[in-house]
Amino acid sequence: MRAHTVAILAAATLGESAVGLSSGNCSAATFVHALPSNAVIENVTAVAQNGSFGEGASNLGYPAIPTSLPQLCAVIVKVTSSPSSSFRFGLLLPAEWNSRFLEIGNGGFAGGINWNDAATGARYGFATASTDTGHNATAEDGSWALNAPEKLIDWGWRAIHGTAAIAKDMANAYYSSPVQYAYYSGCSTGGRQGLREAQLYPDTFDGLLVGAPAWWTSHLQPWTTWTGALNLPINGTNHFDVSLLTALATEIVKQCDSADGVKDGIISAPDLCEFNYAALDCSTPGANASACFTAAQLETVKALHAPYIVDGKLAMAPLKKGSERQWSIQIGGQEPSGLGIGYERYFLFNDPSYKWEQYNDSVIGIADQVQPGNATAYAFDMSAVRDHGAKIIMYHGLADGFIPTGSSEHFYEAVANATGGITSLRDWFRFFFIPGMGHCSSTSVGAPWYIGSASQASTFTTRPVHSVPGFQDRKHDALLALMSWVENGTVVDSLVATVWKNQTNPDSGVLRQRPLCPYPETSKWDRTGNIDEATSWACTA
Ligand SMILES: *[C@@H]1O[C@H](CO)[C@@H](O)[C@H](O)[C@H]1NC(C)=O
Ligand SMILES: *[C@@H]1O[C@H](CO)[C@@H](O)[C@H](O)[C@H]1NC(C)=O
Ligand SMILES: *[C@@H]1O[C@H](CO)[C@@H](O)[C@H](O)[C@H]1NC(C)=O
Ligand SMILES: *[C@@H]1O[C@H](CO)[C@@H](O)[C@H](O)[C@H]1NC(C)=O
Ligand SMILES: *[C@@H]1O[C@H](CO)[C@@H](O)[C@H](O)[C@H]1NC(C)=O
Ligand SMILES: *[C@@H]1O[C@H](CO)[C@@H](O)[C@H](O)[C@H]1NC(C)=O
Ligand SMILES: *[C@@H]1O[C@H](CO)[C@@H](O)[C@H](O)[C@H]1NC(C)=O
Ligand SMILES: *[C@@H]1O[C@H](CO)[C@@H](O)[C@H](O)[C@H]1NC(C)=O
Ligand SMILES: *[C@@H]1O[C@H](CO)[C@@H](O)[C@H](O)[C@H]1NC(C)=O
Ligand SMILES: *[C@@H]1O[C@H](CO)[C@@H](O)[C@H](O)[C@H]1NC(C)=O
Ligand SMILES: *[C@@H]1O[C@H](CO)[C@@H](O)[C@H](O)[C@H]1NC(C)=O
Repeated sequence: MRAHTVAILAAATLGESAVGLSSGNCSAATFVHALPSNAVIENVTAVAQNGSFGEGASNLGYPAIPTSLPQLCAVIVKVTSSPSSSFRFGLLLPAEWNSRFLEIGNGGFAGGINWNDAATGARYGFATASTDTGHNATAEDGSWALNAPEKLIDWGWRAIHGTAAIAKDMANAYYSSPVQYAYYSGCSTGGRQGLREAQLYPDTFDGLLVGAPAWWTSHLQPWTTWTGALNLPINGTNHFDVSLLTALATEIVKQCDSADGVKDGIISAPDLCEFNYAALDCSTPGANASACFTAAQLETVKALHAPYIVDGKLAMAPLKKGSERQWSIQIGGQEPSGLGIGYERYFLFNDPSYKWEQYNDSVIGIADQVQPGNATAYAFDMSAVRDHGAKIIMYHGLADGFIPTGSSEHFYEAVANATGGITSLRDWFRFFFIPGMGHCSSTSVGAPWYIGSASQASTFTTRPVHSVPGFQDRKHDALLALMSWVENGTVVDSLVATVWKNQTNPDSGVLRQRPLCPYPETSKWDRTGNIDEATSWACTA
């Protein structure tokens, strides 16, 4: 069956145009017998070529309504998951189907079917599903979880799992041939969701594209509260205004850029940089008075660059040098972000009156014990994923200011330790740093970051696209690379990242391309070619 499909696919340019296999009747009757007794259809809509589908403002997590869809059948299903919980999911079934299934992840604590990323998947030709994870809320709002342990389980893993199972059966009912391969793509919480599903149900997916995973929930959320408390106005002389972050980031690039051997404005080896904080000290002779820090403020900056240690153990890796421009949301408010304090209030203590002032290091141990929703992706022995024959590509921006990049290094190392070491891990699970990329997408230093992964296509503002515009192939598109690894055994030795002159407009011309390398390899310049061209670089151990 697989060989047959590969032969059909060979006739088409991969990622360019999907292969049409006759699709079914876009009506509720088509799906009814594919649904378990706890699931009901809410909506079935035939969408014409260039049409749109979404829920708008009634979807608090993802109100955007994608346009320019290919011809498809859109279905919304509601699944009762316990006497006190239910989740919904959307399924887009394109008429030109590539015979594969794709499930999409979510972000933060949101609360909504991710129509944007689902639409991107449908444009490739995937039968694409996305769940609301069992509630309707914006990304930083955790109040739905108050005294709702079943809702937490839906968010933790059950909605992703149940959606995959039912949506695959629905796709099988709709098309004239069964789903050949199942994929997953998500970033941030979406990364966590993919890893957690792989740990709990290693057979669900044949390939997972996992970005900046918020995998360490029981530490990451408390750390968000701890970090958010370091620079509050109440800290008095230790507090600095976030407008100073530009000066901080500029000085860090100045000092750290060359640590990787190439002066290009992009910090590619932040851990090799010995940063001299005194250069920013207002009392240093010649300091720029409108862009300097007092000694007390520099203590806060150093604390933000430091790991979070609890009971002598690493509770969370530090924010890396180069991530500063993205700190303002985390440290710029009057209280820590809802992704931190909301976790303590609604997930852990069920106490809406819990204040950040009550936070202390014991929260880490309590969260490790309680594990709300069993969400943390801490089951590091993922050998069953390997044994299923599945492949994982994980990536993390080196300039991520929300989720410390080092937490992904820690995860990768922990999985390596649990499965026989990094050399054999690389046979089925590869990890790529993206130098200069912030959280899941974007750069403030002209770094190539675009690999066609979760939420990236939605950053383009001029026209809806999927894949890597102009470079729809497995060398540039991480999802196509994953498919080729899973289906053809083509090992992903590098991924060429792209950035356009205007990073939100793919018609503005390519600014730079550069290979990303599988950890622990790094990308090395050949010292002669144009540094903006991928061919001038190679991955080396
Ligand atoms: C699709 O299914 C509906 C409901 O069962 C039926 O009324 C309709 O005739 C079908 N359309 C086609 C083209 O088969
Ligand atoms: C596609 O739909 C948009 C409206 O969403 C419209 O402006 C555009 O002209 C349509 N394009 C084609 C090729 O029909
Ligand atoms: C559900 O279907 C109806 C009728 O086809 C349509 O008007 C409505 O917009 C759909 N709702 C959603 C959320 O898409
Ligand atoms: C989500 O919440 C909003 C605001 O309360 C509400 O208007 C909307 O109907 C809700 N959507 C769903 C799908 O429950
Ligand atoms: C700011 O105040 C909070 C709460 O008192 C404290 O935990 C934190 O360590 C302080 N930050 C610095 C840099 O002293
Ligand atoms: C001093 O810092 C300000 C604010 O960042 C900047 O606009 C200005 O160019 C700097 N002056 C010098 C001499 O570097
Ligand atoms: C630390 O926080 C825990 C959990 O909120 C609380 O039970 C404990 O009393 C706190 N410890 C101190 C010394 O405040
Ligand atoms: C949470 O998941 C782990 C597997 O990662 C499992 O061993 C454990 O029993 C689960 N805990 C609960 C409370 O379901
Ligand atoms: C992996 O194993 C090494 C060697 O035993 C150990 O030093 C390291 O702390 C482990 N890392 C993780 C994340 O478990
Ligand atoms: C697998 O290899 C064949 C032959 O080169 C190619 O046509 C096909 O597109 C490849 N499949 C994937 C998923 O890359
Ligand atoms: C990038 O392109 C978008 C869309 O055309 C435009 O709105 C934006 O202003 C451009 N940004 C820059 C920095 O030119």
